[in-house]
Amino acid sequence: MAGVETERESNRGLTTTKAPFIEQAQSEGRLYIHQPYELYTEANHEAWRRLFNRMGDRWRRYANPRFLQGIDNLCLDPDRVPRLDDVNRFLSPLTGFKAKPVSGYVPSFLFFDCLRNREFPTTITIRDGATLDYLPEPDIFHDIAGHVPMHTDRAFAGTLVRFGDCAHTAAEIVAGITDEQEKIRRVSSIFQALARFFWFTIEFGLMRGEEGLKVYGSGLLSSHGEIAHAIDSPTVQRYPIRLEWVINQYFEIDHYQPLLFVVDSFDHLFDLVTELEQWMRQGRLDNVSPGEPAISEPDLRSFLEASAGM
Ligand SMILES: [Fe+2]
Repeated sequence: MAGVETERESNRGLTTTKAPFIEQAQSEGRLYIHQPYELYTEANHEAWRRLFNRMGDRWRRYANPRFLQGIDNLCLDPDRVPRLDDVNRFLSPLTGFKAKPVSGYVPSFLFFDCLRNREFPTTITIRDGATLDYLPEPDIFHDIAGHVPMHTDRAFAGTLVRFGDCAHTAAEIVAGITDEQEKIRRVSSIFQALARFFWFTIEFGLMRGEEGLKVYGSGLLSSHGEIAHAIDSPTVQRYPIRLEWVINQYFEIDHYQPLLFVVDSFDHLFDLVTELEQWMRQGRLDNVSPGEPAISEPDLRSFLEASAGM
């Protein structure tokens, strides 16, 4: 009977929230894992094929040219879930970045620290074919088709590394605070500023170019519906990015974004992260507006543990 059960379990493949391999890794506390490619089922590959193929036209119409170049450079197979080793063979020579398989949510400091080492924590599960349009969790389509093509660009990759530097600076700053309550308050505020900035740029950013507004944010690049909505809908507010606005702007993750920010170039984005770090050092991120995203216990602990080691 045990054999029958094992076979049935393995048939669930690597589907988001239904993968025994992931549950096992999480129960053993293993965050960094390998990609057990043989576990993907035909249904998993079919989900990838449908997701990837329906995005082609949308990307050509709405995506930033650097993203389109990245899709070409990675030589992703439209019909099969990608092997991370294959992706990395094309990616690493370009910018030094690597997709690094993880079993689930990576606490914030560790996530940014990975970016600093040019590693991108990558989900290996794929959404169920019945819920192609929306799922709250990241999956391999969001991470590999939405994020990683941008990592082939040197300026963009350099910006991600600077996010990692910002997290280190935050840990350094709070390492110098002796009062425990004040330490937590400062980490929480800086975290909010960083998370909001990441959200409104790396996940949902727009850029102005010669051919009008284009999308470079991965949350949009991996969403068939929202990528068009972000550019075409008259209901979306689109404003030139302002650092003081973004760090104080809450966001919600469970519906299309009603407010998006526009950068001029990837150099502009890089400069903004540098400015964000300066503001952090000057104490200008210590009292940002309350609201989403609130810091979670694992996120808080990740920063406090990093600061304790400094
Ligand atoms: Fe993402």
